[in-house]
Amino acid sequence: MKIAIAADHAGFRLKQNVTDRLEAAGHRVFDMGTNTEASCDYPAYAVEVSQAVARGEADRGILVCGTGLGMCIAANKVAGIRAVGPCDVSQAEMSRRHNDANVLCLGSRSLAPERVHEIVDIWLATGFEGGRHARRLELIAELEAK
Ligand code: RB5
Repeated sequence: MKIAIAADHAGFRLKQNVTDRLEAAGHRVFDMGTNTEASCDYPAYAVEVSQAVARGEADRGILVCGTGLGMCIAANKVAGIRAVGPCDVSQAEMSRRHNDANVLCLGSRSLAPERVHEIVDIWLATGFEGGRHARRLELIAELEAK
């Protein structure tokens, strides 16, 4: 899978860790920064990754900040993006099955390290169920188009 990934300073270390693991698993990872712990502003990174996903240059996006929340808010401003910040494995799975989430936001200061990998793995492996859920996503797309 082609995965675009980015973080702010608070998420930088976890991003490196997730990237290494994804590459070891055979994914093609596009690292869009940041690459230091110098303080930076997360919205620009959220938009870079989200646009790559919205344009089809990446299949999925992953964003990391301190809580996962700011990245999620910013990512969802990009048309076509359904970004989520699951707290646990169950939410991660359901965000794929029912919401076809295409960007995953992680909180480096909020999630236990072992939970992060479980969340990433199930989120990447789970498909969208379609059917009635597709109809609901169409309604969201209509809202976005207004
Ligand atoms: C940075 O201190 C922090 O605010 C940021 O990483 C993120 O958690 C914002 O939502």
